[in-house]
Amino acid sequence: MGRFDDRVAVITGAARGIGFATAQRFAAEGAAVAILDLDEAQAADAAARIEGTAIGIGCNVSDAASVEAAVDRVVAELGGIHILVNNAGITRDNLLFKMTEEDWDLVMGVHLKGAFLMTKAAQKHFVAQKYGKIVNLSSVSALGNRGQANYSAAKMGVQGFTRTLGIELGPFGVNANAVAPGFIATDMTDATAARVGMDVEDFRAAAAERNPVRRVGFPDDIAAAAAFLASDEASYITGQTLYVDGGATL
Ligand code: NAI
Repeated sequence: MGRFDDRVAVITGAARGIGFATAQRFAAEGAAVAILDLDEAQAADAAARIEGTAIGIGCNVSDAASVEAAVDRVVAELGGIHILVNNAGITRDNLLFKMTEEDWDLVMGVHLKGAFLMTKAAQKHFVAQKYGKIVNLSSVSALGNRGQANYSAAKMGVQGFTRTLGIELGPFGVNANAVAPGFIATDMTDATAARVGMDVEDFRAAAAERNPVRRVGFPDDIAAAAAFLASDEASYITGQTLYVDGGATL
């Protein structure tokens, strides 16, 4: 018996990184998973690497029509939707005085509008069946981070969004929580290393040295937390943000 037997889980931005690890974890615990990502071929490739039932769907979470079509396909092909993980994300880092309006809009569009559109499309099903689990990806950057005015605002916005979902959807059997990762070794943090001109291994080692548990995080660390929050064991937890950061924010 897996915690997610007979459940359908949708994970956005799951062609790689934290999203992919989360899809693997949910599938290993019995869920049928839908991997949504910008490029349909990459989403399908990722789905083919999952052990268990998995489909890949091309979807831009910033685009309402694309989101509606993707959620309709999940329901048609997998028979329903019970869990939504809003994981898709991008960074467009720059100091405020160099940050462009486009950098701002793109980051808000994926993290905030994306989570809004996906949640709106999924909640119709959740409310009708009186069951749903939502896990949103925030970040330790929500607390403020140099060069990330756009990203930190979006990630703190995700926390406010999550709290409001907890209030509005709780009466309908829906739990909404957020995970706020610290430094996780993925393409996203590798790209940050490249941007600041550091070797990836040196960049990770420096992050590990600053961290109370003396290591960086890995996608599986976040997948485990997301799985707990999406499980029925967490049914009395809603509107919360769980920092999964090795104590970086202590
Ligand atoms: P990643 O860059 O490895 O993967 C992100 C995925 O999202 C990619 O596959 C990308 O194609 C997809 N994506 C981007 N825009 C999209 C859109 N408009 N529609 C659909 N898919 C889209 O990133 P990573 O590291 O796996 O991050 C996942 C989430 O965790 C993000 O929300 C990120 O902000 C958050 N996070 C990551 C941390 C880290 O240290 N890696 C720390 C804190 C939060």
